[in-house]
Amino acid sequence: MEFTLSEEQLMIQQAARDFAETDLLPEVIERDDAQRFPEEQVKKMGELGFMGMMVEEKYGGSGMDTLSYVLVMEELSKVDASASVIVSVNNSLVCWGLQTYGTEEQKQKHLTRLASGEIIGAFCLSEPEAGSDATSQKTTAFDKGDHYVINGTKNWITNGGTAEVYLVIAQTDIDKGHKGINAFIVEKGMDGFEIGPKENKLGIRGSDTHSLIFNDVKVPKENRIGEDGFGFKFAMKTLAGGRIGIAAQALGIAAGAYELSKKYSKERKAFGTEIMNHQAIAFKLADMHTKIQAARHLVYKAAWDKDNGNNYDLSGAMAKLYASEVAMETAVEAVQVHGGNGFVKDYHVERLMRDAKITQIYEGTSEIQKIVISRSILRD
Ligand code: CAA
Ligand code: FAD
Repeated sequence: MEFTLSEEQLMIQQAARDFAETDLLPEVIERDDAQRFPEEQVKKMGELGFMGMMVEEKYGGSGMDTLSYVLVMEELSKVDASASVIVSVNNSLVCWGLQTYGTEEQKQKHLTRLASGEIIGAFCLSEPEAGSDATSQKTTAFDKGDHYVINGTKNWITNGGTAEVYLVIAQTDIDKGHKGINAFIVEKGMDGFEIGPKENKLGIRGSDTHSLIFNDVKVPKENRIGEDGFGFKFAMKTLAGGRIGIAAQALGIAAGAYELSKKYSKERKAFGTEIMNHQAIAFKLADMHTKIQAARHLVYKAAWDKDNGNNYDLSGAMAKLYASEVAMETAVEAVQVHGGNGFVKDYHVERLMRDAKITQIYEGTSEIQKIVISRSILRD
């Protein structure tokens, strides 16, 4: 068993930490308040190679492993989970999906620009009536010979307003259930493709979440990803890796809340001593640290599984389930450690608490992770 990071992994971790401190931290409160997308920061993350970390260099990516990606996600999320979800969707859902299942032509046309950060992408599975129940797709894409025609609505789409390339899942043959689902590349500006209003959210407010409306959108046949009927498997396989990215996001939120709490407990005095000297506070820090380490092991193990060709459906789901619960619990306790200061924006932990919640919901709720985990362990 190897518990050390390589020199390259340590370097990329440090680069992400430096970027988070110098470029994300300064206006993170203002962006959250105003629901402002971190446009400049995303551009810079493209230059740093963070937008296509696992994509081969010949397609404009950084050619790194999943563990390096997880380290970057963790560092960014300590400071700004809005920025990290943009990175997560672009890397693990859009770039990974295209690199793994796209045709050479699709990769040449889209992947290179996505991986370099020139443009960003969105992954569109959820619908008003198909969230957890993802096979119940109501969006249709009917085969019209040399093209498909898409009709329907997607909701909750991250990068919904800012993306240029959208991977859209739709039902092509209603009678075939999940075997009659396909995935398509839809480009911004295609006739009949409309971007709905931006959501006003509890957390990750700097990220851009929209519904999308498709009214007779004509999509060329060459924009279908994979064989006919592969769309649901495409979504599931892509999400299996995406969940490792969100697990790393949750881990980063927890670690950020813990680090702020530790610092604060050494500075704040009550009853004539630093609050860390009150056992109630010291024990909170001990619990936080222990649970974060446990979450970190699950997250890194899932990344290691992916890098080593092992199945990662189970390890990714366990990592996401546990890390997201640790994120929520740690962030709530961090507010408590900060007392009244925890309740105001300047101290960051109230934002981390609001941001933590989404990690238990998107890319499969905690309840859905338990379905994935229980089916996997009971099948063995
Ligand atoms: N890999 C490959 N195939 C898989 C798979 C996987 N990991 N998981 C399921 N499948 C296949 C099954 O084998 C089955 O195919 P066969 O019939 O050929 O065997 C098919 O998919 C249907 O699977 P189930 O019968 O298990 O389907 P189900 O209706 O019971 O649902 C589910 C399974 C796991 C609950 C699934 O619907 C699910 O994951 N729901 C959650 C959806 C989700 O995570 N959405 C996230 C949207 S993206 C997002 O949120 C991004 C963001 O916020 C930033
Ligand atoms: P529902 O499925 O209606 O679930 C409601 C509750 O019922 C949950 O607690 C759920 O766990 C529980 N539940 C449902 N079914 C079961 C069951 N069988 N057993 C036990 N409990 C169950 N989607 C995308 O496709 N792309 C994106 O980029 C994207 N980004 C998002 C960003 C944000 C900010 C948000 C809020 C959502 C995003 N989503 C995205 C959607 C997200 O994946 C869904 O919200 C999530 O999968 C849950 O679906 P739902 O909201 O329809 O909840």
